[in-house]
Amino acid sequence: MKNFTIPKEKNIYVGIDIGSSKICCSISTIDPINGTLQLLGIGTSPSTGIKIGSITHRENLISEMETAMREAETMADAKVSSAILSISSEQIRGINTQGAIAVQKNQMNNVPIQHEITQSDVQRVVDLAKGISLPIDRDILHVLPQEFMIDTMDKIKDPVGMSGHRLEGHVHLITLGTTAATNIANCAQELGITVDGLVFQGLASGTAVLDQDEKDHGVALVDFGAGTTDLAIYHDDGIRHASVLGIGSGMITNDIGVMLQVGMEEAEKIKQTYGSAKASMSSPELEFDLPVKNGGIARRISEHELSRYVEARTEEILRLIKREIIRSGLRDNLTYGVVLTGGGANLKNITGLAEEVIGLPVRIGKPKGVQDSVGIASNPQYSAAVGLGIWRFRPEELHIDYGVESPVQETIKKVFKWFGDFF
Ligand SMILES: Nc1ncnc2c1ncn2[C@@H]1O[C@H](COP(=O)(O)OP(=O)(O)OP(=O)(O)O)[C@@H](O)[C@H]1O
Ligand SMILES: [Mg+2]
Repeated sequence: MKNFTIPKEKNIYVGIDIGSSKICCSISTIDPINGTLQLLGIGTSPSTGIKIGSITHRENLISEMETAMREAETMADAKVSSAILSISSEQIRGINTQGAIAVQKNQMNNVPIQHEITQSDVQRVVDLAKGISLPIDRDILHVLPQEFMIDTMDKIKDPVGMSGHRLEGHVHLITLGTTAATNIANCAQELGITVDGLVFQGLASGTAVLDQDEKDHGVALVDFGAGTTDLAIYHDDGIRHASVLGIGSGMITNDIGVMLQVGMEEAEKIKQTYGSAKASMSSPELEFDLPVKNGGIARRISEHELSRYVEARTEEILRLIKREIIRSGLRDNLTYGVVLTGGGANLKNITGLAEEVIGLPVRIGKPKGVQDSVGIASNPQYSAAVGLGIWRFRPEELHIDYGVESPVQETIKKVFKWFGDFF
């Protein structure tokens, strides 16, 4: 991962990934010697208060966030005062929009000079592009510039300082339900921390695991979580499509629990220890004991039989991912295929099945370029939490702003001073 410009003071950057199965808090800093991101602390807690982005037990969510935060604070020997939170919800939608302006003429001594594009021109274009009408219960979460066009020149990433008459900007907007976002932010504020912003989990994970080449030449980032599967498609170094499927690896666990008549905790252990996404790669001879219930009889099942259930459900989820990729209209642009991350990517042999079903190359995405003494950052389950720590440093986020005053914005009171703080 590239080196970051070193801030003058040692700052910590805190991300709290709020997942359906775990809450994970990461505390990072910039290594003053080489400018890379250093993970100082990470804390996790099981998550029982939120399902598919909707809060089901507010008190549980608050106390679980606190547990994860305190654990990370202890490891990092630092105090958290603000954090960026992740969000994943079926209500998240991505949309491509555009705006165009006539570049204002500059004058010097009443003599017209070339039309030089300024930062405020770019801002006007982005404002126009995000000026779509949204239902009152929706809000803009991210404004992600894709490229600009000056007159007939296209694919310009940064038009500031260039000259022209007409500036057109293409952006990807990610919107979400206002209520879900406001409630999540409120929970963090209850813990006395300032919410610096909310980030779509799929983008946070993409930040942690993708290479620049992948983002340039086309890749679909799939964060296969417990309750949701996030999709973020990149091409030409911009987000082109974002969506969330309200299904995840938890459904595989659920199937195992129901089929084998075991509790969910046992089903989870069985999935992780014996489950394979490809039944043909697990042995019919290798059997394991199922937990015996009170008064029940001893039972055994082969890894192959278990994996038949696992494969069936995994294949179904992968088919839905494939359908979503096709629906985006970008399948043919995915030179680097699919990068699978999130805890669900740990399932044995999932890469092989995913390549067969989706028909594209697939690799597992783990957080990269992070110095971490505990090894946790090399697990795809922690991609989003690590990505939140890096979030502020993404150059492509320089244009993000949260736009018009909105309920989310009022609640969060975020101030992203991208340039001022670090560059
Ligand atoms: N070794 C493993 N084998 C199979 N599945 C695994 C393994 N490790 C984790 N998982 C699965 O990954 C899922 C948890 O992934 P993750 O932590 O990314 O989800 P989350 O962020 O809590 O949820 P979400 O993103 O859906 O809100 C669980 O369903 C778990 O069973
Ligand atoms: Mg997740």
